[in-house]
Amino acid sequence: MTAIPVTIGRRMLQPAVSAPSGVFAAASTAPVAAVGAPLVDTHGRVHRDLRISLTDRCSLRCTYCMPEQGNEWLAKTSILTLDEIVRIARVAAADEITTFRLTGGEPLLRSDIVEVVRRLSAITGPDGRPVEIAMTTNGIRLPELLPALVEAGLTRLNISIDTLRRDRFHALTRRDRLDDVRDGIAAAGASGLRPLKLNAVAMRDVNDDELVDLVEFAIAHDAQMRFIEQMPLDAGHTWDRSRMVTQDEILTALSARWTLTPVPGRGGAPAARWTLDGGPHTVGVIASVTAPFCGDCDRLRLTADGQLRNCLFSTTEYDLLPILRAETSPVVEPVETRIDGMLRSCVHGKLPGHAINDPSFLQPARGMNAIGG
Ligand code: 5AD
Ligand code: SF4
Repeated sequence: MTAIPVTIGRRMLQPAVSAPSGVFAAASTAPVAAVGAPLVDTHGRVHRDLRISLTDRCSLRCTYCMPEQGNEWLAKTSILTLDEIVRIARVAAADEITTFRLTGGEPLLRSDIVEVVRRLSAITGPDGRPVEIAMTTNGIRLPELLPALVEAGLTRLNISIDTLRRDRFHALTRRDRLDDVRDGIAAAGASGLRPLKLNAVAMRDVNDDELVDLVEFAIAHDAQMRFIEQMPLDAGHTWDRSRMVTQDEILTALSARWTLTPVPGRGGAPAARWTLDGGPHTVGVIASVTAPFCGDCDRLRLTADGQLRNCLFSTTEYDLLPILRAETSPVVEPVETRIDGMLRSCVHGKLPGHAINDPSFLQPARGMNAIGG
């Protein structure tokens, strides 16, 4: 178990395998509701989207996400098994979560990934409708795995590609794998999965001269390009607000090539969208730093080692491992009731928004690869 500090119920704990009392303290302060009620926080936000990180491992080492070397991997014994993930997901679906987004690290590195998709896609909500299974991936293993994933029930794909230049890709990800990512995107383009989304983190002096090229590349694959403002989530804690590329700069660069018209009806989606020259193609911008969308957030996160998080930037985690593995003193309630209680505690503890723009902002201890995008 890595030594990630966890704050639960305003107490600092080490990971709660042997110290679960804080967990139950937090659980007991949450509103009591039976399994099967929607997950509504104290700000009225209804939660519909659970992002499930399947592993913290990755085949790339993107500079804004992971260190080159010396990453402290999560202990293998603490990684959720397929049965444990399904058990949590069933309770979440009963509580009206409608989308599971599989992330990592790189989710396709998980050896049982096709089985994960198959088991999760068989889950239905209280209205009898099947959940949606989306995935965010670096694309590298898609050519071999995509047919089986689609057959197993995958419904949507987001693929990350920050640059189209091989030397830049190598420098940025510390791996010479651009051709593999392109093959993965080609496989996704040829599949029936739509909408297909491509993600790029916009970075000054790294790829900010490629924004138009990336959009054209996406259009050629019948995909929607989405640019993400870089967030303070890198393992090296080197993020510098004054150097990040803002949504305004992204839109200015794209306006030189296309007429951009805002698409209304964003709902809880992180990306604001614009049509290009009146459509049908669109571009999205995820402006987490300069135009936060926390007020409409409907997302929860489950880390690969069983920690529920109510925000990317939260420093609080809600530990499901002791519940799943009965490492605590016997409790009379069924495991499903206790998972539901922990989901509700997590939602109940959600703050109105992140504080990236606040001088007192503290970056979470985990890097993005260990949280899940
Ligand atoms: N800032 C913005 N986006 C990030 N991602 C990873 N780290 C960061 C960061 N620091 C993105 C990846 C991928 C998604 C999972 O999150 O590029 O598209
Ligand atoms: Fe891997 Fe994604 Fe992190 Fe890049 S951003 S190192 S692809 S997990």
